[in-house]
Amino acid sequence: MSKDTISMDEQARAILRGNDRGGYTVPTAGLYPYQWNWDSAFAAWGFAQFDLERAWDELTTLFDGQWPSGMVPHIQFHQPDPGYFPGADVWGAETKGPVPSSGVSQPPVAATFALAVYRKNPDQGQAALKALFPKMVKWHRWFMDWRNDNGAIFITHPWEAGRDNAPDWDEAMAAIDPVGVGEYTRRDTSHVDPAMRPTKADYDRYIWLVQRGSRLDWDEAAMAQDMPFKVADPTMTFILLRANRDLATIADALGEDRTEIDGWTKVLEAGTARLRNPETGSYNAVNLITGNHTGNVSNASFLCWYAGIESADMMRELHEAFETCSYPVASHKPGDETFDAKRYWRGPTWAIVNALIGYGLAGMGHHAEAQKLRALTAGLIAKYGFAEYFDPTSGDPAGGGTFTWTAAVWLAWASPNVEGA
Ligand code: GLC
Repeated sequence: MSKDTISMDEQARAILRGNDRGGYTVPTAGLYPYQWNWDSAFAAWGFAQFDLERAWDELTTLFDGQWPSGMVPHIQFHQPDPGYFPGADVWGAETKGPVPSSGVSQPPVAATFALAVYRKNPDQGQAALKALFPKMVKWHRWFMDWRNDNGAIFITHPWEAGRDNAPDWDEAMAAIDPVGVGEYTRRDTSHVDPAMRPTKADYDRYIWLVQRGSRLDWDEAAMAQDMPFKVADPTMTFILLRANRDLATIADALGEDRTEIDGWTKVLEAGTARLRNPETGSYNAVNLITGNHTGNVSNASFLCWYAGIESADMMRELHEAFETCSYPVASHKPGDETFDAKRYWRGPTWAIVNALIGYGLAGMGHHAEAQKLRALTAGLIAKYGFAEYFDPTSGDPAGGGTFTWTAAVWLAWASPNVEGA
């Protein structure tokens, strides 16, 4: 164990502690001052490497914000912060759940990390896991009821996928005329270089979709009547499939019935086939309004192994990424005309997605590829720091710094001190 490595682990722990706001962790101070859903689940995975009790608190707080419908919102606004837009007032969902929140969800990685945290010490985690289990079931059921198109899980807002401005949404976003969106002031671009953030054209549509949901009081049945944006997403489909497998394992550990969960797994296994582009064999997002495959290979396309799905075509893509990109896996394939090395989800590499890809590869027995991705990611973080995301060609850090989920995946997966990752 080298001295540098030890200090990287220490830095990562200090970032988690520094971003801890008591029961929940902010992604990074300033830019993201609230609790984000999948960020929080990653934080729990990171905390579990040195403070199990704190890890369980993180997951418990996340589910404390669950709506009666089962939805677990993508942001919980625990306290007002004028430096952030769009805040609770814009979402207009203040009374929909126990905590003022946004009105859409985010990729459900929580069950997978709850299982990982539990495995660290089953005796210690038993009570917390038992309390979380029915809430996780209710959340997954909400996805199956409201975001499921024959097993392909779709999003109703780009923010729901957690890949805000991915080219995957371009066709569906272009079909929206954000009429009447009005004047607003973005806050993200006062924290970070605008060249690393979504464009105004994208932002107008994000806000327009939020205003529409708010007008319909975030009633899923009402919103389903007329969906201006409906894109089947590999992030959601693969992550929910994996989460259902892990939730069934949790059911076994707790002596609960897993029949309903196994039914969902079957539906999603069949649904993943719809995301497979017949022309290329790669997994793409599909605009369900036009039926078009986007043709894009994103980092989410590589989550097939994480979901337990084998794919020779994606393995070929992965090897190509290793050969052609200095710091894979790019969020959008380099060389594509919409690739943009520094703009958020249109090119940059995200350590958290690499962690999920690596976790999946290792689980399916692709140890050489898993180790290679892990070593490349570790090198990237060690050299360029705990950034929000990285330029895949140069490694340059981008977006916010001292980022919770980058620190978390360092501790739980990338660090050379992690055994058996
Ligand atoms: C951005 C990311 C999203 C993340 C959030 C907080 O919106 O696209 O995935 O959850 O920031 O880090």
